[in-house]
This record gives sequence, C-alpha cells and structure tokens, in this order.
Amino acid sequence: MKIIVFNGSPQAEKSHTNVMVEAFLEGAREAGATVENIFLAHKKIHPCVACFSCWLKTPGKCAIQDDMAELLPLCYASDLVVFATPLYVDNVTGIMKNFMDRMIPAADPYFEKDAGGECRHKTTSKVPRIMVISNCGFPEQSHFQVLKLLFRRIARNMNTELAAEIYRGGGAILTDNSITLKLPLLHYKSLLRKAGGEIVKDGKISGDLQQKLEKPLIPESLYIRGAETYFREALKKAGR
Ligand SMILES: Cc1cc2nc3c(=O)[nH]c(=O)nc-3n(C[C@H](O)[C@H](O)[C@H](O)COP(=O)(O)O)c2cc1C
Repeated sequence: MKIIVFNGSPQAEKSHTNVMVEAFLEGAREAGATVENIFLAHKKIHPCVACFSCWLKTPGKCAIQDDMAELLPLCYASDLVVFATPLYVDNVTGIMKNFMDRMIPAADPYFEKDAGGECRHKTTSKVPRIMVISNCGFPEQSHFQVLKLLFRRIARNMNTELAAEIYRGGGAILTDNSITLKLPLLHYKSLLRKAGGEIVKDGKISGDLQQKLEKPLIPESLYIRGAETYFREALKKAGR
C-alpha cells in the first residue's frame, strides 16, 4: 500500500499537523506501507486560473508550469491520499485549497449523476481514497464541523471515498516539550501510530480507536489557561 501525505501547513516540518502525520505514518510504515510526506509550503503551486486547458486543449494536463506537474502523478500512483492541514478560519489553509483546486485536471467536462442523483464531473484519472488529518488551536472538537462536511463533499466531488478522518482540537500543545505534557502526548502519538496500522491492515480506523482519538489531550480548562499565559507572556515580550 502506498500512502502519500500532502501537508498544507505554512509551518511545514515544524507544524503541529506534522507531529500527527509522522506518528500516523510510523504506524503505517510498521504495518508495511510505503509512505511519502510532502510539504506543500515548499512547493510552487499557483492558483487555478480557470482556463480549462486541462479539459479542452491538453486533457488531464494543466497549462500552468509549476510543481503540480510532479505532484499530481504521485497522487494518482498512491492508494491513499492524506490531506493534512491545520484549521484556518474554520477551513483548510489557502495552500491546501490551491492544491485541491489544481487537482481539477483529474476531472473532465462531462457530467454524471452520483448514486444520490446529484451531478458531478466524470473523472479521467482515478483519485485514490482520501483521508484528513487536521489540528486546530481551540480546544473543542466541534471546530471541525466544516472540515467534516467539506471532505465528505470533496470525496463525492472527486468520485472517491473518504477512508478516515483524524481531527485534533487543542493542537497547539502537540510540539510542546514540557515534562508535564510528555505522557499525554506520548499516549496520543501511540493512538496515531495505531491508526496508521489500522488503515493499512483494515482500510479504516476502528470505532473504538476513533473515540479514543477524539478525547481531549488535557483538561480543557488547563489548555485555555496555558494558552492565555502563553499569549500574555508573548505580548509582554513584544512590548505590548
Ligand atoms: C490564519 C489563521 C487562522 C486560524 N483559524 C483558526 C480557527 O478558525 N480555529 C481554530 O481553532 N484555530 C485556528 N487557528 C490556529 C491553528 O489552527 C493552530 O495554531 C494550529 O495548531 C496550527 O497548526 P500547524 O502548526 O500544523 O500549522 C488559526 C491560525 C491561523 C494562523
């Protein structure tokens, strides 16, 4: 099984999202998968300009010459595409949205009805199953409401399946090295590793593990207090 991750955080390797991705991929690798972790922030990806060359002039091929030319074939050659993104204004990052828009060469102009009777474009290149990994700054899991719907719609749009979703509220502590957070973070990473293994072996994350992944890393009140202290000190340091 080949898994490819596209990480849409501007923080790339240093991102909280990447902490999640690395633990997940470790589990997938241990279960026998080949994995690739790509940081979109390091790639040149211009926004789609809606010229429709990829449908009308050079089917499947985008007119814009940038790094998407190497990324799309990697995507088609995988069994699972992971969209990894922090939550920005209740949505994916701009980097990720640009990337997803530029996947339009996978479709063609003709319409088809899906099983629910709703139109979509036919796909010329098969988009593999997709998955989401995301984290956000606020502590509640409810902040992912938009992403939950969005990725269902994207899977429908791209004529594929949403294999799994991992959302982490209160993600700002994921890169924290303090001794008090060591145990909760180790525990969370072990769950992520397990999720990587289950995806490879079973094609999905079990209900039991999903429930565990949704639990807060630390009590909400502690997280909020920590965030307030962090910003108070950062503002003081900035002379505000
Ligand atoms: C422009 C911007 C918008 C954000 N919007 C939200 C938001 O709507 N909800 C939220 O909980 N966190 C929001 N955050 C916080 C990030 O999701 C959070 O810092 C996350 O841990 C960043 O992950 P990363 O290190 O993987 O980039 C926002 C951060 C930025 C910079």
